[in-house]
Amino acid sequence: MSIEKDKVRRKIEELKNLPTLPGVIQKISIMVESRDKSAEDVGKVIGRDQVLSAKVLRLINSAFYGFPGRISSITHGLVLLGFNVVKGLVLSTSVFDIMMSRGMVDLWRHSLGCATIAGVIAKKLNHPEPEEVSVAGLLHDFGKVVLKLELPKESEDIEKRIQERNISMFEAENEVLEFTHATVGNWLCEKWNLPKNLSDPIAYHHQPHLSRSAPRQTAMVHLSDILVKAIGFGFSGDSLVPMVDKRAWESLRITPEMLEEIIVDMEDGLENADDSIYFQEIKGE
Ligand SMILES: [Fe+2]
Ligand SMILES: [Fe+2]
Repeated sequence: MSIEKDKVRRKIEELKNLPTLPGVIQKISIMVESRDKSAEDVGKVIGRDQVLSAKVLRLINSAFYGFPGRISSITHGLVLLGFNVVKGLVLSTSVFDIMMSRGMVDLWRHSLGCATIAGVIAKKLNHPEPEEVSVAGLLHDFGKVVLKLELPKESEDIEKRIQERNISMFEAENEVLEFTHATVGNWLCEKWNLPKNLSDPIAYHHQPHLSRSAPRQTAMVHLSDILVKAIGFGFSGDSLVPMVDKRAWESLRITPEMLEEIIVDMEDGLENADDSIYFQEIKGE
């Protein structure tokens, strides 16, 4: 069975099932592009929605392991983290809400784990914007949620194939749809004007060699996705742990000493993510 890709793309871009999200994201995009808007202006737009700002602030303290000091306001967050990171966080809060309402807690845990590990690796490699890499990790699989919402029938078929033949979700999606959650993520990144530093890792986390604009960030998210699966933190939809892409691994130049340090920090970071308010909320504490 193959469904028409353009039709699906249009349907997904309409996103009837993500009602509150596009408005805020688009407002922020326009403000950021107009350039004469300050962090304070954008902060005000997000700040008007108190529930949203509270969520974004909590997410900063859950997903960014070891972030220096607590951020107390959206404007403060914008100054410290930049517009794109905050935009990615706004998007993430929406993804979180949908995952929770659909009982996809394990996929959220997988995403939060990937974000944490990606941040740890980025810091260890002295990447200038580790929080941006974390946000890419947080969002890397959000196409999965969108597929589940927009194409429920095909999603059932995909799940069946994974269970029956123990194949990866990426492979099953390709069989059924001829595109994957990574493609869907990329469509939405384009629609929402997310920068390549975020869209490339989302589009190519399963095929890091295809990234042209952000190969380093993509390699880091690719590695983090595999590590979080290998550890078994959360569940991404299938239990296969793929091989790390050789070129991506070599490009990162992680020495054995660095790897040891990454593993220690990663364990600390995952503990922090688990203790974070987001999980207390889920556990009903
Ligand atoms: Fe994925
Ligand atoms: Fe993943």
